[in-house]
Amino acid sequence: MSTVPSEIFLHDLHPSAAGIRGEVLAGLAHRPKRLPSKYLYDARGSELFERICELPEYYLTRAELSLMRAHAAAIAAALGPRTLLVEYGSGSATKTPLLLERLADVVAYVPVEISRSALGASVERLSGQFPGTQMLPVWADFTQPLTLPEPVRSPRRTVIYFPGSTIGNFDTDAAVCLLSQMRREMGPDGMALVGVDLVKPEPLIEAAYNDAAGVTAEFTLNLLRRLNEELGADFDLRAFRHRARYHPERERIETHIVSRAEQEVSVDGHRFHFAAGEAMQVEISCKYSCESFARIAKRAGLRVMQVWTDPQRLFSVQCLRPAGSMHAHPQPVRAD
Ligand code: AVI
Repeated sequence: MSTVPSEIFLHDLHPSAAGIRGEVLAGLAHRPKRLPSKYLYDARGSELFERICELPEYYLTRAELSLMRAHAAAIAAALGPRTLLVEYGSGSATKTPLLLERLADVVAYVPVEISRSALGASVERLSGQFPGTQMLPVWADFTQPLTLPEPVRSPRRTVIYFPGSTIGNFDTDAAVCLLSQMRREMGPDGMALVGVDLVKPEPLIEAAYNDAAGVTAEFTLNLLRRLNEELGADFDLRAFRHRARYHPERERIETHIVSRAEQEVSVDGHRFHFAAGEAMQVEISCKYSCESFARIAKRAGLRVMQVWTDPQRLFSVQCLRPAGSMHAHPQPVRAD
């Protein structure tokens, strides 16, 4: 496991084992059964997700990277100098260098990540690449309110960076809650930069979550392996399968783990019955239009200032500000 370099202090706000157990048992007792998607990301799950990002079918990462490369200078100019850059769910932080290279006089970088191995590896790499930037890693679940660590220098603005369309893994109400939490954390002068996957023809979306190599299926089922390891469960991974379907009326992929047969599973001493074909939801991936995303931002008290997209309009990066702030005048969508 990669560790955070010893000269960098790790802020440990990680959820306890009791918290994971409680959420998993509650999800299994729920009808229909469901499990929180954040638990997909243990060390193995994070590794598998990195592989997903390189799959030919998974267009999201390539589209976002290409648009970040094309527009990094304009994005950095929109965010302005002396920022405290906070990244929610930083993972391997592959897009972050594109921002850190362009932003003027960054005060500190605060990656917030639930996987300790991914956090350690990214901080090790970025502190080597950007030795002049203070690194303040936080090992935490970003969906819970955070007390951000204090940087040595005071910033002009807090910017919350939330790439990868992870906002799509929350249903509408939860996304509004999370965006509202961002608004509170960024303060009245803050900004958010959010990666949002766009609605597009169904076959393209479905293929991205049903890759031919089966990596996404392994990523989904890894959640059961994790529960076996951490909660002493006895899921037989061969007795379950991955299913990801696009629902155009809800504009989202719904990913389930489906029981191949009738069976009983024990988790932390509790027994759960699965019918043959019973499906347990483990993830949703919502897709947005610029209009539908602007609507949820508005519900969270945020205003879309600028939108950048890739030439094929597969993906967008959206710059948001608190709606009441003095300079909240939106700019047109940029796609080139
Ligand atoms: C992290 N998140 C945005 C990914 C997505 O596209 O919903 C997670 C993922 N699940 C399966 N493939 C990728």
